[in-house]
Amino acid sequence: MTESMERARVSRRSFLGGVGVTAGGLMVASGPVFWEQAAKADTVTAEQVHLTFGADPAREVVVSWVTPTAVSNPAVVLGTTHGGFGRTIHAETLTYTDSNNGVETLVQHARLEGLQPDTDYVYKIVSGGETQVSSAFRTAPEGRVPFRFTSVGDIACGDTAYSKASLNAMATAAAIESFDPVVHVVNGDLSYANSNQLFQPQVWEEYFDNTQLSSANRPWMPTLGNHENEPGNGPQGYLSYQTRFALPGNGSGEFEGNWYSFQVGSVLFVMLDNNDVCYQIDTGTYVSTGDNQILTGYSGGAQLKWLERTLREASTDCSIDWIVAVMHQPAMSTSDADGSDLGIRQNWMPLFYQYGVDFVLAGHDHDYERSYAVRGTDSGTILRPHVVSTDLTKVDSDKGLVHLVIGTGGTKGHDDVYQTGTAGEPTETINVSGTATETEDAPWSAVTDPNATYPWGLGVFDVDPGRFPGDKTTMTFTYYHTPAATAATPYPAPIEFDSFTATRTRSDGFGFRQRDAK
Ligand SMILES: [Fe+2]
Repeated sequence: MTESMERARVSRRSFLGGVGVTAGGLMVASGPVFWEQAAKADTVTAEQVHLTFGADPAREVVVSWVTPTAVSNPAVVLGTTHGGFGRTIHAETLTYTDSNNGVETLVQHARLEGLQPDTDYVYKIVSGGETQVSSAFRTAPEGRVPFRFTSVGDIACGDTAYSKASLNAMATAAAIESFDPVVHVVNGDLSYANSNQLFQPQVWEEYFDNTQLSSANRPWMPTLGNHENEPGNGPQGYLSYQTRFALPGNGSGEFEGNWYSFQVGSVLFVMLDNNDVCYQIDTGTYVSTGDNQILTGYSGGAQLKWLERTLREASTDCSIDWIVAVMHQPAMSTSDADGSDLGIRQNWMPLFYQYGVDFVLAGHDHDYERSYAVRGTDSGTILRPHVVSTDLTKVDSDKGLVHLVIGTGGTKGHDDVYQTGTAGEPTETINVSGTATETEDAPWSAVTDPNATYPWGLGVFDVDPGRFPGDKTTMTFTYYHTPAATAATPYPAPIEFDSFTATRTRSDGFGFRQRDAK
């Protein structure tokens, strides 16, 4: 913990108290027990606090935190807002040792089960009987109810001493919290630890210490990006990620945590690892291995097989109206940075069309882009998607899906330069192998954000479930800019930039096929 970050922590607490940010409808800073933590870093023995959903988000939440050394009886004491604290749930300790600098990280995971849906809980993290942190959360609703979720990737940490870090990461975490989502999904590239190879555990520490102002109050569900690959730390370089997050299982045994799904209300989230299928590769020299690590095809088709089964089952599940796929590298991007990737189009997109996925959320390019509603392909080898509508305000999700690149979480560099042809038409560069690219027209590109004044932001989704079986359900998406954070204004207010409403037919209609494939 650096001096600058300790100052930032104090500032964040002041911010929370000043604007009354809520956690599941509860005041975070004003109550006697919510979000209390010792002011000096050297007195804190529970830090990097973050929540994730279990397999059933309405009834299971995992509280995870890091301790600098082994502690006795790490546990969470759980309570309700009106009934006081009750049962104690002991934590499981997982550890790993960074291959580059030998630093051991101890992560505690307390799995809270048997919870009630859509219910506020308070919790205390304790070690040896001493309270370290107190906060609150709300379980997910179940059934067809309105709810909100948020999405952004490419966050980095807020300590500018590290590569890729910037103060904007702090603004992003605060902005997410200000929207009070049931869950935040992270579109990969979390801490950028592997951009700081001799300090990977330290960068993770700064990342979680920054994001916990939100992730201690509501689940943040992550996906793997290229910057979660730390060569030398496990077979895929994911050992840090896998140790730090306790995520729903995928049944693979060997690749647990790398991909998974969970359902909130009538929305199924499918969280994918695109490092397994994309062609583009990182280049660089790594401390432990001496070379970059190519992960393309590492699961041997296990992830694809899981995805097909998950989507097939969802397609006949009458409790699921919406399917949202979350990933890192984009299938569709006109960014001048990394652009599109054919491997994602070849592996995932046919299944997305076949089983009626509604949204594809990605990051990687540090910009914002929205596609028109698309379905199928109209171009051969590069599998360019076919545009089914150019309506910018209304999307018929029964007919097509929308790609969103939301890689504007706060990392230092931003990529808001988009490719165009000689007549100003959008074009794209597509990665078609490890080193080769092709350039094509991109008529599917609907909205880009070349305004470098506001290079950061986040996506907010509001679900309206409709009123009766077979009714229309809507999902309204709004992309907000997060103005650049400064030391004087670390938490600037978000500004609306782009919005549309998607509509689809509920899957519980009488006598109708449960879900129309696209
Ligand atoms: Fe990335």
